[in-house]
Amino acid sequence: MRKYSLDYYLVPSEDAHNGEYIADSDQRRRFISGFTGSAGIAIITLHSAFLSTDSRFWIQAREELDHNWIVVKSSYDWTGFLVDHITGGPKGTRIGVDGRLVTYSNVTYIQSKITNHKSELVFLDENLVDVIWKDRPSEPREPLFVHDLVYAGEPASSKLRRLRERVREDMTDSSNTATIITHLPSIAWLLNLRGSGIPYNPLFHAYLYISLDKHNEETILFLDSSQAPPDIQTYLTNLHVERMGYDEIWNFLSSKTDKTIIITPKTSYAISSQIPQEKCIVLPSFAEELLSRKNSMEVDSLRKAYLKDGIAFTQFLAWLDSKLVSENEDVTEFEAAERLTEFRKTQGKGTYRDQKEPISASGPNAALPHYVAKRDTARVIDRNLPYLNDSGGQYLEGTCDTTRTVHLGTPDQAMSEAYTRVLQGHIAISTAIFPIGTSGDQLDALARRPLWKNGLDYGHGTGHGFGTFLTVHEGIQSFSSNVPLAPGHVLTVEPGCYKEGKWGVRIESALVVTKANIPGIDQENWLQFERLTVVPIHTRMVKWSMLTRAEKVWLEEHNQKCYEALAPHLKNDKQTLRWLRREVGVSDVD
Ligand SMILES: *[C@@H]1O[C@H](CO)[C@@H](O)[C@H](O)[C@H]1NC(C)=O
Ligand SMILES: *[C@@H]1O[C@H](CO)[C@@H](O)[C@H](O)[C@H]1NC(C)=O
Repeated sequence: MRKYSLDYYLVPSEDAHNGEYIADSDQRRRFISGFTGSAGIAIITLHSAFLSTDSRFWIQAREELDHNWIVVKSSYDWTGFLVDHITGGPKGTRIGVDGRLVTYSNVTYIQSKITNHKSELVFLDENLVDVIWKDRPSEPREPLFVHDLVYAGEPASSKLRRLRERVREDMTDSSNTATIITHLPSIAWLLNLRGSGIPYNPLFHAYLYISLDKHNEETILFLDSSQAPPDIQTYLTNLHVERMGYDEIWNFLSSKTDKTIIITPKTSYAISSQIPQEKCIVLPSFAEELLSRKNSMEVDSLRKAYLKDGIAFTQFLAWLDSKLVSENEDVTEFEAAERLTEFRKTQGKGTYRDQKEPISASGPNAALPHYVAKRDTARVIDRNLPYLNDSGGQYLEGTCDTTRTVHLGTPDQAMSEAYTRVLQGHIAISTAIFPIGTSGDQLDALARRPLWKNGLDYGHGTGHGFGTFLTVHEGIQSFSSNVPLAPGHVLTVEPGCYKEGKWGVRIESALVVTKANIPGIDQENWLQFERLTVVPIHTRMVKWSMLTRAEKVWLEEHNQKCYEALAPHLKNDKQTLRWLRREVGVSDVD
């Protein structure tokens, strides 16, 4: 920092593609700080160090960081803290950062706020963490594989064509124009390619350049040669996609100064700075818009993925029940997580991996919505408290995300009431019927209403999109977004209730938006949800007297349907089948 006369150096947690789950070689923020959470930025001065992160990680950050670090409790967006901190201090500060690791929108915002203060962002060619990181892991460069058409449902050529048409729709003149895609799930989706080497997500490091000129439709994939063995090279050639080296993107862009280039607000600042300002157009991501709407084969694949995951989840819950209750053995949160992964591997037949670190939490740990059990600090699962498991497998058919909360002893009134209100919110979203044009954020309050009635709430979103063998957080639709919901949009619904320091409950299932199929309702103008998740909802914490008749019928029908879907696959697993029968039979705590 002194060599470059820096007062600050920023170490963001993202990679050059603004990814949430990143390769080990990109874990710079973890290396410099020791904090392992998946969000948060290190802000280092010559005399002190700050770690700014959002509420999901405050407790974890305090536990993992040593006395050199000050935890800054901020929101997901750290730019506000940085700007306040800089403008509250002496003028003329120099803030170093690797321009590849910060987004165009974050940089332009910060610059607009600190320029008057005579302070500046300084973009260095070398990354200062990499300079001191002696045993930095090498970058993942495993060969790619084609994501089969039976899962994808649309050839890459058709996706590229639709993308070009979609962009041209929004441009008065698309001649001499191109777009550069840096978002890894978008590249993988567009080309029907997948990779390995990045934990949890089948992604690969690449950039994709797509020209929009009708007479010169160039498509160039910037990808390391080691990732394109002959079969992949042939696949790309047949698609009319040219390949250049991953690092050639920089020289390539600076040689295209005559072209107008479309980027998104989340494109890295380094990429945007290769494009002359008057030639750079910033628009929301068209690729993410397209990949958000699943085609009928993708939805079909997702149904299969959720059935597989449902079998594994059910086997896991039955195993847990038998260990804790019948055998009266202690199980830690960590052991439970490992066991679940084993059940999933059987379903995934070699392709399996978790879509994220599974959340397996008992008692107070479940009150931390993003708690991840570690081998040496995991709690023994407490029979007197709810046990929450939020996890999902990656299958070739799709990416799963499910949460169930169970109680293996006798729940108290407060737990049962909270659980029942969460369930009512879950049902309210699942059964919603809404006119075309309705956005997720307009439905959000349905999930919270039963909790609000009692002065309760949860501090996270109600649900997000997810991928088809891609990432677990995806797309432009969610219950916090103002994007109108449309058939093919997939969303999780996951209301929760957390008593800090004591326990937490959450019920999460996956849904797909379909046309309303209800007698008397105009199909063309009304929408509803179909459920993908096939895991029974635990009833021991249900206070039946709080449910309406319709809610009771819904719950019983849901569990009955899960039973019918799962039972044929559990013929050889008597223990799970017995548990499932018991679980879906009606029980009552009142
Ligand atoms: C900074 O980037 C994050 C992540 O892309 C985004 O959510 C946030 O809105 C950005 N903030 C500003 C001020 O641009
Ligand atoms: C959560 O459940 C899954 C099964 O869906 C299992 O693989 C995983 O091990 C469980 N996690 C924990 C921490 O118990």
